[in-house]
Amino acid sequence: LDKKVKQNNWEEGNFINYKKMSENLAIVRSRLNRPLTYAEKILYSHLDDPEGQEIERGVSYLRLRPDRVACQDATAQMAILQFMSAGMPSVANPTTVHCDHLIEAQVGGAKDLERAVSINKEVYDFLSSSCAKYNIGFWRPGSGIIHQILLENYAFPGGLLIGTDSHTPNAGGLGMAAIGVGGADAVDVMANLPWELKAPKVIGVKLTGQMSGWTAPKDIILKVAGILTVKGGTGAIVEYHGPGVETISATGMGTICNMGAEIGATTSVFPFNDRMYDYLKATKRTAIGDFARTYAKELREDEGAEYDQLIEINLSELEPHINGPFTPDLATPISKFAQAAKENGWPEELKVGLIGSCTNSSYEDMSRAAAIARDALNHGVKAKSAFFVTPGSEQIRATIAKDGQLQTFEEFGGVVLANACGPCIGQWDRKDVKKGEANSILSSYNRNFTGRNDGNPATHSFVTSPDLTVALAIAGRLSFNPLTDKLKDKDGNEFLLSPPTGDSLPPTGFDAGNDTYQAPPKDRSTVEVKVSPSSDRLQLLQPFNAWDGKDYTDMPILIKTKGKTTTDHISMAGPWLKYRGHLDNISNNMLIGAINAENDEANKVKNILNGQYDAVPAVARDYKKNGIKWVVIGDWNYGEGSSREHAALEPRHLGGVAIVTRSFARIHETNLKKQGMLPLTFSDPADYDKIPTDAKVDIKCTELEVGKPVTMVVHPKDGKPFEIKLSHTFNEPQLEWFRNGSALNVILILSFP
Ligand code: F3S
Repeated sequence: LDKKVKQNNWEEGNFINYKKMSENLAIVRSRLNRPLTYAEKILYSHLDDPEGQEIERGVSYLRLRPDRVACQDATAQMAILQFMSAGMPSVANPTTVHCDHLIEAQVGGAKDLERAVSINKEVYDFLSSSCAKYNIGFWRPGSGIIHQILLENYAFPGGLLIGTDSHTPNAGGLGMAAIGVGGADAVDVMANLPWELKAPKVIGVKLTGQMSGWTAPKDIILKVAGILTVKGGTGAIVEYHGPGVETISATGMGTICNMGAEIGATTSVFPFNDRMYDYLKATKRTAIGDFARTYAKELREDEGAEYDQLIEINLSELEPHINGPFTPDLATPISKFAQAAKENGWPEELKVGLIGSCTNSSYEDMSRAAAIARDALNHGVKAKSAFFVTPGSEQIRATIAKDGQLQTFEEFGGVVLANACGPCIGQWDRKDVKKGEANSILSSYNRNFTGRNDGNPATHSFVTSPDLTVALAIAGRLSFNPLTDKLKDKDGNEFLLSPPTGDSLPPTGFDAGNDTYQAPPKDRSTVEVKVSPSSDRLQLLQPFNAWDGKDYTDMPILIKTKGKTTTDHISMAGPWLKYRGHLDNISNNMLIGAINAENDEANKVKNILNGQYDAVPAVARDYKKNGIKWVVIGDWNYGEGSSREHAALEPRHLGGVAIVTRSFARIHETNLKKQGMLPLTFSDPADYDKIPTDAKVDIKCTELEVGKPVTMVVHPKDGKPFEIKLSHTFNEPQLEWFRNGSALNVILILSFP
């Protein structure tokens, strides 16, 4: 275990530390004295303090030291901007950035890529130069989708990775615990702070039997999603085990882990096995495979490990599934699908079939899909539906070009798109139907929420395996079951499609294709980070001011929100995505979706300076201009939804100091603390009702101490002032964040005392 084995073939000084992991594990074992699941082993072997850490699944907060960080281009911008404001010369932990989300599908690979490079030039220039400056590996546009690149290059058994994208768990296909997080968490690890995660529960999925015929790895997760539903995995890691595991390719396991995000799971993992070894070998990482074999005992569950919930699936009996529309957990086996489509009135004609994406673009997926397409071509028929292929990476694209699958898809009538997210994230300039027109599309993607692919709320989007996508695209209708239904060949004779076959790995090896990686230079001192001061998409961040040591007094309530205030209400997505790297511009969406308790309207609040009603960001800006600090009063579970840090940065940027609510969603609460804000809760939630919207408040932050309440004095416009008690969850290091103005300011002070 003492060997020095590199984490990957791109970075020199970063090694896999099985020795340290096994030492940590020994400490935790002696404390817990019970068999451990594999998921627990990965997490506990990455504890910051294995001796002192409290460990109770579903209860304690683990402080962890991940091996790596990965960011996609949409989320990387603010993460890097924040990291820069901490003043460190380079990232403290290995980090990569992947350009995949900003490429729109219009006409096909090369042209689409060229257009994206020109439209997003300033963003790409910024990412490329900042990555070079801070020692971050940069994967240029055209290299492929983050999760495919991670599997091909960076994932390793037993490792812990965080990534700023929800399908990061894809790396579970190589036995890594890979967890999707918000940018603020990524910044912590880049800056060497421990990363906090609530100790997950562990759901076991025991696989027995063996898949055959039309059943593919995707069907396992489609089935699991049907059982657990979109909420069933929340706060849990899904851990696969049992004899059936050995029958699935590493990339197939990746697909299953990837889509585990759809049931809300923290991540999903498979134990290290020979299929992973084969994949490591095929991707030129035999040394890692061999090293993992020496540590293999700890790269799987202990005998007798107990799961919080257990599901069993017999692969020999598993039918192919199609899930949807509009939600990934509505699972229907293919034998019942035609009937379900009819009963529910789902549009019968299949307009478009799409394969690939981060979920399903392995060599195996492409080979099986091409085998079905070739079978159809041999009978003289092509795709009836429009057909798109998204290769997950440049390596996959080049390899299927070399081995002929790509040509088969084109002959079949398919369009090969850029190696990027494209239609999976709505980057799709779809022309064949009008907005509002009901229609059906089928993809091998993972997520099919309303409007996600083409922005058309009437599009019925279904997800399935690449195999069924191709088969149904040949028939051009939802009512086709390739297992039982015949098609007509070019002469009108009936035929049954052959069940798909395909190699899980390329028989003559992978072709890396074009060189799309930018390694950070050795001497980075002269690299200049490119941010144009006139840019409307990017803006350098200034550190926030430290607390002045005094109580906050006489503050207006910018808005008292009523009911749900999610991160979408606080910082909307959609067209605002464009400004993710520009704090001042994106702040124009601050709280515009929240409902004002005073008038039940969104984005209409009274400005106490002139008595006029105006948009929330406009009023906040006016207060800021006049040097007036303000607060927000919120309802239950304020800030639920995504982990986007913009929802905490924006109020801080526009002069807010405290958010006082009945309760918080935890991630948002932590994000507010990190930005130097005060997230406070009514000690008696009924006090929410006592606060008039036009009152002013004082918050006695000089009283702030761990575990002690804080006083808020409320001054109603007409009437006597009164006091109420507010609670908080700050611990001592977090109070330092508040005092210094932000978590990053604390690092700044440590680096430049
Ligand atoms: Fe991209 Fe879709 Fe995956 S957006 S990262 S291809 S889920």
